[in-house]
Amino acid sequence: MIVIVGCNKGGAGKTTTAVNLAVALALRGSDVCLVDADPQRSATRWYAEREAAELKPTITLVEKRDNITQTLKTLGEKFDHVIVDVAGRNSRELITGAVIADVIIAPHQCSQLDLDTLGELQEQVTRIRDLNPELKVLAYHSMASTNPSVRETERREFLAFLDEFPEIQPLISIGFYRKAYKDSIPCGKSVIEGDNAQASSEIQTLMKEVFGA
Ligand SMILES: Nc1ncnc2c1ncn2[C@@H]1O[C@H](COP(=O)(O)OP(=O)(O)OP(=O)(O)O)[C@@H](O)[C@H]1O
Ligand SMILES: [Mg+2]
Repeated sequence: MIVIVGCNKGGAGKTTTAVNLAVALALRGSDVCLVDADPQRSATRWYAEREAAELKPTITLVEKRDNITQTLKTLGEKFDHVIVDVAGRNSRELITGAVIADVIIAPHQCSQLDLDTLGELQEQVTRIRDLNPELKVLAYHSMASTNPSVRETERREFLAFLDEFPEIQPLISIGFYRKAYKDSIPCGKSVIEGDNAQASSEIQTLMKEVFGA
């Protein structure tokens, strides 16, 4: 499966989600390729730490910019899963990737500034579906509050906002704001390889929802 972790907002949790999914799939025994299509190279730096620490399971990293359609097509034939990390803006990589991808996972925080970019994503998706009608677009509620007094209200607001964008389907899975996500990145790790059971369970739940049991 070719999965793009992409949206039009910077700092929404794309790289964090992409690297965690890549490791989760590899731990399940899949042959995984992580494609860094963001000139900021965050996934590549994370990967370099993983390689230096000789962490298992190994995954493959490919860096590709500009038009990534052909690269993803070729990688999709070679690997069980291809996970693509793109920049947080309306990028050529997001568009050229989406024409060949099976799924876009679009992380969004429940904030007006993040959710305001959903309109742009919906427009892109409408056009891309002319070329790739099967493309699924799944909104992932990222960095959600763990505070019990706002948790449910925030989730309701997120879902109410998504209601206005019928082309984009909300995922049931939620990624909460947890320090464990930040701490795992400089070590080249996934939260599944750390000791925060809640973060680990969030990634496992996301993986099951997107890739099946
Ligand atoms: N669930 C989380 N809990 C706490 N911090 C998080 C979580 N997810 C991501 N972060 C932190 O938020 C920041 C942005 O995350 P990340 O780099 O994954 O976003 P991005 O969408 O890839 O950003 P960019 O658009 O710059 O590529 C980072 O400092 C990251 O460590
Ligand atoms: Mg990123």
